[in-house]
Amino acid sequence: MRVLGILGSPHKDGGSAQLLLSALKAAEKEGAKTEIVSVYDGEIKPCIGCIHNEEPVCKFPCIFDDFGKSILEKINQADGLIFSTPIYWFAPSGPLKILIDRITCLENMISYGEPSYMEGKVVGAIAVGADAGGPWTCGYLITTFTSMGAIIPPWGIAYSYKGNKAIWDDKALMDVINIGLLVIKMIKLLKRGEKSQLTYIDNKNLLNEIRSEVLKELKHIKEFENYGRKTISRGNI
Ligand SMILES: Cc1cc2nc3c(=O)[nH]c(=O)nc-3n(C[C@H](O)[C@H](O)[C@H](O)COP(=O)(O)O)c2cc1C
Repeated sequence: MRVLGILGSPHKDGGSAQLLLSALKAAEKEGAKTEIVSVYDGEIKPCIGCIHNEEPVCKFPCIFDDFGKSILEKINQADGLIFSTPIYWFAPSGPLKILIDRITCLENMISYGEPSYMEGKVVGAIAVGADAGGPWTCGYLITTFTSMGAIIPPWGIAYSYKGNKAIWDDKALMDVINIGLLVIKMIKLLKRGEKSQLTYIDNKNLLNEIRSEVLKELKHIKEFENYGRKTISRGNI
């Protein structure tokens, strides 16, 4: 069971990375092999919409030979995907949106008489911000991926407004641990017919264990006293 974590943040130790690593560690405890890629680690050319050409050429592999293509190949190989993005104006970060547009080449295999290559992949969504837009950002992600044929597990979204202190947000941390566990439980159910409870678990020992593992990996994470925008409040949307 391969799970690819896709980081939508330029910060390898930021809140999105902290929660993504936590979700992947939970997935590993359920038996997953995990890998992480960042959309900021290379060039991802924007989609040029060749799906609309008279002779449609939008198919996997994408026509662009760039870093985006290597991520698309990893996506194609994965059984599960966990996206973790900073909230940039109520939405995923720009490079992640560009990657999502490029995923059209996997979905558009339906135009070539094949199923969408996204069909049956299990997808979880995590968003980290400073004040607002978590459900909108996660909602965008899960709406898009179910529309490509992917499967969203129960409890499949999580968000925090604690910015680069997200690892200390107990509710969000428990939520992403559940994403990691449930992505794998869904894969086991779909691929092997293995049934298990798809219930949200609240397990403080597991939470502390995963937090300390992630903190060890990201040793340089410090608590920032005055993090966050203090002057503007948009409420918790
Ligand atoms: C361009 C930009 C737009 C942002 N828009 C929002 C927003 O709409 N809602 C929000 O809660 N935070 C917003 N933020 C704050 C980031 O989401 C926040 O800094 C977050 O911690 C970044 O995640 P990271 O630590 O994983 O990089 C914005 C930040 C930037 C740079």
